[in-house]
Amino acid sequence: MQVPHHDLDPVTAVVVLAAGGGTRMKSDRSKLLHEVAGKSMLSYAISAAAALDPDHLVVVVGHQREQVESHLEELSASITTAVQEEQLGTGHAVACGLAGLTDLVGEVVVTYGDVPMLTGDTLRQLVAVHRAHHQQVTVLTAEIDDPSGYGRILRLEDRVVGIVEHRDATSEQLGIKEINSGIYVFDAETLQAGLAQLGTDNAQAEQYLTDVVHFAHERGDRVGALRTDDVWQTEGVNDRIQLARMAAEMNRRILDAWMLAGVTVVDPSSTWVDVDVDLARDVTLLPGTILQGATTVGQGAVIGPDTTLMDVEVGARAQVIRSHGSFAIVGEDAQVGPFSYLRPGTQLGADGKIGAFVETKNAVIGAGAKVPHLCYCGDAVVGSAANIGAGTIFANYDGANKSTCHIGDNAFVGSNSVLVAPVDVGVGAFVAAGSAITEDVPPAALAVARGRQHNSEGWVHSRRPGSAASRAVDSDSEN
Ligand code: UD1
Ligand code: MG
Repeated sequence: MQVPHHDLDPVTAVVVLAAGGGTRMKSDRSKLLHEVAGKSMLSYAISAAAALDPDHLVVVVGHQREQVESHLEELSASITTAVQEEQLGTGHAVACGLAGLTDLVGEVVVTYGDVPMLTGDTLRQLVAVHRAHHQQVTVLTAEIDDPSGYGRILRLEDRVVGIVEHRDATSEQLGIKEINSGIYVFDAETLQAGLAQLGTDNAQAEQYLTDVVHFAHERGDRVGALRTDDVWQTEGVNDRIQLARMAAEMNRRILDAWMLAGVTVVDPSSTWVDVDVDLARDVTLLPGTILQGATTVGQGAVIGPDTTLMDVEVGARAQVIRSHGSFAIVGEDAQVGPFSYLRPGTQLGADGKIGAFVETKNAVIGAGAKVPHLCYCGDAVVGSAANIGAGTIFANYDGANKSTCHIGDNAFVGSNSVLVAPVDVGVGAFVAAGSAITEDVPPAALAVARGRQHNSEGWVHSRRPGSAASRAVDSDSEN
């Protein structure tokens, strides 16, 4: 879903902190690469930052940095990384992030790589408040019932005078419910002056970025806050329990937005839709539907129950029932399922059908063509209105190479045939049931490629005398 962008002058820099260890994930994969609604946590941080149109977008990397850096390269070419060799605190991390930027003037926004719900809109609002009140520091805060672990916002009347970390707080300060999200806008000069004087005289012996807030207040700068009602936007993910909770909340929001846009979601609790999925009006998602990647669904289409589609394009009014598909196209008014398996490169034309226990791969199936039952259709081009009978196998692999079969428009392939690729079946041609086709079939021909049937009369009496079958024949003839 696209967030509308209102005019806002760009900021000088956004520094995304992403050097931390993510120890509690207990993962070989960087925490920041774990996904929520189909995208890495880091990619949300990058999208939110990009909404500020910064001159510099710097990601501070440290732990598992090769993974993080190569992921960033995939996301965007305009991201700079700065390395924080040792995690000496959030203040130190920001200093590392700014080290490569000279003559810094203007606004510097600081965010985290592991806060996936934070939106670009919220960052833009934070910058707008910072500008409207002519502040040198503006911090994003939230009121929460259980603030334990977070830094607390210290206020004197309307002004923010400092932030105290949970572990350094007095029992009175621990009672404060307004927390620091860790997301800020700083005037570059204030930030650099503040960072230059940071010490480590605190419970964690770290250079706290939060101390810059008190520093700014002390020297007479204007420090303010934007309090958000949407606490989720300030929440980080530290372990896989939080990851699952975050994913559920993100999914709930995605589904709510689609329902408001005219999509019926019969059972939101069992329906999962990735953030980049696109759904048209009057789409119906039945229980157990999972739509991933860049899947799109056209107007009036029905998906599910129990269907997973990744990067699939479903046309208007199509139905996809109890099926699994990836990198496939389903045409308008087409029918898929139940129990179909659409593998990459499947393209089903308008009004076409892929039915029960049919597996397709790299198969272009024409408009109105039907592959209704129990079939493997791989490396095939099937013409429009062709009919592929039950149990047909496209034998596309000879153990070394894959080859393609072409089936002409309106052709009819009888049940339980095997098409040994490469072979072509011409327009309007028929293949008799049970055929093993190894040579091309000309247009309009009937191909029969199987042993002719021979009946040996009385075989049971001569070869199985006295058997149950033989007696059954005798008693049948007595009646
Ligand atoms: C920090 C804030 C706290 C706030 C909380 C919100 C400080 C001192 N405290 O606490 O007030 O309520 O965030 O979540 O800033 N990081 C680095 N390098 C470091 C240290 C951290 O890159 O040396 C990154 C981490 O990867 C993480 C972020 O900075 O993304 C926050 O670090 P973390 O240690 O989680 O901060 P908190 O102790 O939670
Ligand atoms: Mg910490």
